[in-house]
Amino acid sequence: MNSRRKFLQKSALVGVGTAIAPNLTYSMFDTSQNSKLNVGLIGAGLRGTNHLNNLLLRKDVNVTAICDIDPNRISLAKDLISKAGGKAPKTFGSNDLDYRNLLALKEVDAVVIATPWLWHVRMTVDAMKAGKYAGVEVSAANTMEECWDLVNVHEQTGTHMMILENVNYRRDVLAVLNMVEQNVFGELVHFRCGYQHDLRHVKFNDGKTAYGKGAEFGDKAISEAKWRTAHSVKRNADVYPTHGLGPIAVMTDINRGNRFVSMTSHATKGIGLHNYVVEVGGENHPNAQVKFKQGDVITSTIDTANGQTIIITHDCNLPRPYSLGFRVQGSKGLWENDGDRIYVEGQSKEAHSWDDDADWLKKYDHPLWQKYGAYALDAGHGGMDFFVLNSFIESAKANIAPPLDAYDAAAWSAVTPLSEISVANNGEPQNFPDFTRGMWIKRKPYKWAKDTY
Ligand SMILES: NC(=O)c1ccc[n+]([C@@H]2O[C@H](COP(=O)([O-])OP(=O)(O)OC[C@H]3O[C@@H](n4cnc5c(N)ncnc54)[C@H](O)[C@@H]3O)[C@@H](O)[C@H]2O)c1
Repeated sequence: MNSRRKFLQKSALVGVGTAIAPNLTYSMFDTSQNSKLNVGLIGAGLRGTNHLNNLLLRKDVNVTAICDIDPNRISLAKDLISKAGGKAPKTFGSNDLDYRNLLALKEVDAVVIATPWLWHVRMTVDAMKAGKYAGVEVSAANTMEECWDLVNVHEQTGTHMMILENVNYRRDVLAVLNMVEQNVFGELVHFRCGYQHDLRHVKFNDGKTAYGKGAEFGDKAISEAKWRTAHSVKRNADVYPTHGLGPIAVMTDINRGNRFVSMTSHATKGIGLHNYVVEVGGENHPNAQVKFKQGDVITSTIDTANGQTIIITHDCNLPRPYSLGFRVQGSKGLWENDGDRIYVEGQSKEAHSWDDDADWLKKYDHPLWQKYGAYALDAGHGGMDFFVLNSFIESAKANIAPPLDAYDAAAWSAVTPLSEISVANNGEPQNFPDFTRGMWIKRKPYKWAKDTY
């Protein structure tokens, strides 16, 4: 299949767009009908339809089945498929477990799972048991048991799963990975990353508009406020670690020559969500009585087996501009995402002074971006959505292990339960399980420096 891959065309998108939907097609794969990958989509919410739009632009994919418990989302998804000229998919969603009927279809080879967090592992595990190559949205798992479920079921069934962490494919992140692989920073020592995103307008809405209005969550809300906010009510934990940690884990070969060993976490008080409810809904709004357990800023420090530290920040409940706050530091220099700056001893323009990172990022632009950048840019989230889906589809077509696998999904997601225990115990260190059962010692890093996927 790979040998037949080639660029074909770039033409106008036919179909209904969302704010982050692509407006170009990047159907660059010349794939005959019988070698197409049949994909089922479980969860056709905002994220699921973003994936759907991108799937529909590919010539090597048939979207054969859709599952969502909300009939409106099924209609919308069917409409997108029909407008893209696709065959009507089989549809499911009569109850929470109807996705299992989708998994039983022989005309489904692979599934993309974009449902609320509490469904991720249930659905991924069932998919692997049904022999379907599974791609699951982030964060993958909520509890340590769920982390192990991903690993155990992958090993028992031999079926692959991929954590669909799009930030691993961000242009600057891949350029910095390229620099890491070319030893620009020398021996790596320290990293920072996190999810620093004011989500107050996502965690609450008015039940009609997804973002930006209202102080409702749970049953009176729609989209993410329907399910995501409950995690801030019930858990004082870093519940969304993978956007920051995924890229760093790859740079430092986690599960492939290195591993997370232990972690300490601390949380501030939580005032941001309550203040927001009062500001938007007034102090008599019923949600002004809700006690949000989650601290506004949660800071965790991981020790790795290779003697590095990684500081991860979860900061989603206060006003602030978006930043994943990356810092990659080694024996020769460092890159900092905040400030767009880099310093490499002996190579930066002046000693002890930052260079603007733009020229460096351009010089080390990753081969993937050089090849597909023009096509990817309209796929959503600045292009990274194209790459993560491309990687998933190519791995599934070849039925080989994906770049971001069950061990990665487990290790990165383990930050959530471990941070919860550490915070509750005044920052007591928590050990990471070795999800590879010792194999990290001899597993080799995935070859990222190539232009395929
Ligand atoms: N990687 C990214 O950049 C990114 C961005 C946004 C969201 N996400 C992730 O994607 C996932 C979905 O987020 P979203 O914004 O689309 O949320 P959403 O609430 O808009 O969509 C979730 C959909 O799942 C459906 N659903 C719920 N339970 C179901 C079940 N049992 N069976 C079938 N369908 C079910 C809902 O009806 C809804 O349509 C989350 O895990 C989120 O963290 C990732």
